[in-house]
Amino acid sequence: MNTFQSTLESFQKREDALKAREDPFADGIAWVEGEIMPLSQARIPLADQGFLHGDLTYDVPAVWDGRIFRLDDHLDRLEASCHKLRLFLPKPKEEIKQLVLDLISKSGFRDAYVELIVTRGIHSIRTLDMSPAKVEPNLYLFVTPYVWVVPMALHSHGAAAIVTRTVRRIPPGAVDPTVKNLQWGDFNRAILETQDRGAQAPFLTDGDSNLTEGSGFNIFIVKGGVLHTARRGVLEGITRRTVLEIAEDEKIPCHVEDVPMGLVYSADEIFICTTAGGLMPITGLDGQPVADGKVGPITSKFWDAYWALHYDPKLTIDIMYG
Ligand SMILES: Cc1ncc(COP(=O)(O)O)c(C=O)c1O
Repeated sequence: MNTFQSTLESFQKREDALKAREDPFADGIAWVEGEIMPLSQARIPLADQGFLHGDLTYDVPAVWDGRIFRLDDHLDRLEASCHKLRLFLPKPKEEIKQLVLDLISKSGFRDAYVELIVTRGIHSIRTLDMSPAKVEPNLYLFVTPYVWVVPMALHSHGAAAIVTRTVRRIPPGAVDPTVKNLQWGDFNRAILETQDRGAQAPFLTDGDSNLTEGSGFNIFIVKGGVLHTARRGVLEGITRRTVLEIAEDEKIPCHVEDVPMGLVYSADEIFICTTAGGLMPITGLDGQPVADGKVGPITSKFWDAYWALHYDPKLTIDIMYG
């Protein structure tokens, strides 16, 4: 049995066990203003700037088979995003880390999607004064069962992507994509177009015929044994970083630069990557097969390496379940 089958089969077993749960946290658990509640009951105050003006940043680590992957890297990115927005973490990083670990433990999920949101907090409706003295950011946390951007069932054969025709990626000069944000106007339009065109993953360009990213994932193109991924106009994903590190270990060249659409359409292999689903092969693009339409050897190699790292003590923390 290869790594691919065994990884997904063992996940499936854990997911079946989850389906048997009927307790109040079975669908998710949230932490809001120091209180823990079922996710379906969690509420945001209307006057929170995160809700009123999208003035927030967030991050999403994941738990796989009882271990959280690269939590410190996610917390560092959250802190860096806060700084770029002239926000600060509402609590010391170590305290937030412990809150996250405790919430996962309480959730009981062995595979989980963990979201941390920092908003600018509660102000008047129209505030022009964002000076640090006036800012009391709010923290929201929730944990749900593991989320797949592309359904797990599609991983063995690969998913279909489209290059969106109706929308481009918002330019970095308007919304800084390196700050993980929920201004999903472009992605929401892209997702609608993806559904209309019967595919699973939208690829957005920068409006100048270069590839950027998709709705919650980075994109890698493989051509002649070399990886290519966009340098600009994208979130610097932790999964993307993991792929770059695997490439370095495996001595597979990787170019982080502008990726012209011509390269995308002539790719040997394409895969997308995100914390919500890991690496996902893309075997169709705009209704045509990518090369021979099969999951390629480089994608498979990186897929295996990525999941193997989820058992590496240097990158993971064991969750102590109650
Ligand atoms: C726009 C965008 N790009 C890329 C990613 C992948 O980032 P990561 O690998 O850190 O999950 C995400 C994750 O949600 C995202 O929202």
